[in-house]
Amino acid sequence: MKRVITYGTFDLLHYGHINLLKRAKANGDYLIVALSTDEFNKKDKNKICYFEYEKRKALLEAIRYVDLVIPEENWKQKAEDIKLYKIDTFIMGDDWKGKFDYLGEYCEVKYLERTPEISTTKIKEELKNDKI
Ligand code: CTP
Repeated sequence: MKRVITYGTFDLLHYGHINLLKRAKANGDYLIVALSTDEFNKKDKNKICYFEYEKRKALLEAIRYVDLVIPEENWKQKAEDIKLYKIDTFIMGDDWKGKFDYLGEYCEVKYLERTPEISTTKIKEELKNDKI
């Protein structure tokens, strides 16, 4: 069985996220999403989520491509996760291109093209500015 992992915040789940998860799952048989905790988002990513961790987790678990959701609590855990979960392929959107090449020591590393013109930030901005 081929095992894939990806990392992210996945707040206000949108079709760009679904596209990423669908293509990530197509790289193997079992997809793990390491979901950034509220504390990690706030402290290290400068992000305040609309949906708290448990709600973002429940949404991801309802997606057919996702087999397991684990917490992402720091930048350093990736190598340990890859070993612990016997990961074959690490996947991120290409906004992260090159940043995680060092994980190639442990598994295959792939960056998938981002879906254009959608992001959580954009949704928040447009709602705030009465654009829709
Ligand atoms: N992603 C994607 N296409 C998009 C938006 C996100 O492929 N249009 C991917 C990212 O590259 C990442 C994963 O989805 O691998 C989770 O991204 P996340 O940062 O949670 O989503 P964004 O919508 O980019 O959120 P933000 O605007 O807060 O950065």
